[in-house]
Amino acid sequence: MGRTASSPLRGVLTDGVRSATAAPSLHNSQPWLFRLWDRSIQLYADPSRRLDVLDPYGRELFISVGAALFTLRLALHGAGYVPRTEILPDPAEPNLVATVTAGEQTAPTPAVEALVAAIPRRHTNRWPFARSVVPADDVEKLVGAARREQAVLSVAGAVTRNAIINLSQSADRRLRAKGGYRAELTRWTAPATGRRDGIPPSAIGPWDALESLPLRDFGLMQPRLSRPSEEFEPYPTIMVLATRGDTPNDWVRAGQALQRTLLTATSLGLATTPISQPVEVPAIRDLLTDTGHGVWAQVILRVGYGRPAAATPRRPLDEVLLTDRSAERP
Ligand SMILES: Cc1cc2nc3c(=O)[nH]c(=O)nc-3n(C[C@H](O)[C@H](O)[C@H](O)COP(=O)(O)O)c2cc1C
Repeated sequence: MGRTASSPLRGVLTDGVRSATAAPSLHNSQPWLFRLWDRSIQLYADPSRRLDVLDPYGRELFISVGAALFTLRLALHGAGYVPRTEILPDPAEPNLVATVTAGEQTAPTPAVEALVAAIPRRHTNRWPFARSVVPADDVEKLVGAARREQAVLSVAGAVTRNAIINLSQSADRRLRAKGGYRAELTRWTAPATGRRDGIPPSAIGPWDALESLPLRDFGLMQPRLSRPSEEFEPYPTIMVLATRGDTPNDWVRAGQALQRTLLTATSLGLATTPISQPVEVPAIRDLLTDTGHGVWAQVILRVGYGRPAAATPRRPLDEVLLTDRSAERP
């Protein structure tokens, strides 16, 4: 596990890694690895868990690792240490996404404690949401959360929302027709006893009876799965998370902003669903992106009030914590 600090701090760092693994990731691929080193945690992207068809450049892989990074920073803060973060610190090691060091001790603020409490309560929610409006104050808090992580979150007005839904549906059709898409989906949704990654049947959600929302159909390759059919909300609250650049650094930033936004939503009692098909088809992503102003769409979010969603499994710590003996870098 590397040269580590004294045991109390070592416990804090290990707990931080455990919290970080609760982060969302594309298809619950959990593409991260950690190493404890002195007062620091090194966070690596694991390219063997990249989705080749959906994510050939690793953009969503870095967003997922960015979400884990935000959770790690938050967990250290919650445990009373100021986190010192270096992003992509070594150009010779492109998979070393960040080093987070436990800095000076400080009491966590109530705001930090509220976000920490949301870590285990945040789940992707694929159920219908209530037909009620998200209050403007809460929307403002979500926008502010993304801004604190140097990202731009905008709420779609009625016209843009309809356009995004149409674009998402067309992206979904194109993806389903893409070679390898179904095989990749099968790989990440096939139920197996003891499986600790992927999307289990309990998290797939019902059929959208009117096919009004472009939620990814994780049941597509599970014909034996019996699912209720339900009507989804006709006017969902849709938000676009974007960054002012489109490099690995921006993807990590997008992931951190995504997780701060999702945890803020959870702490406000809001349910969330990331929707990423429209940003997985380059021609459609271009339509959501304003390169003239240097703003790249990274993730679409659906926000609202939903019934409780189930937790998905996570790989155990001994699978994600590198030891000195497994010293080879991913
Ligand atoms: C980059 C990224 C893209 C995602 N895209 C989608 C998506 O298109 N549709 C969806 O239902 N969930 C999406 N998710 C949510 C993941 O499927 C979810 O985080 C994962 O299954 C773990 O479940 P949890 O969020 O409930 O912990 C995405 C998550 C991330 C980080």
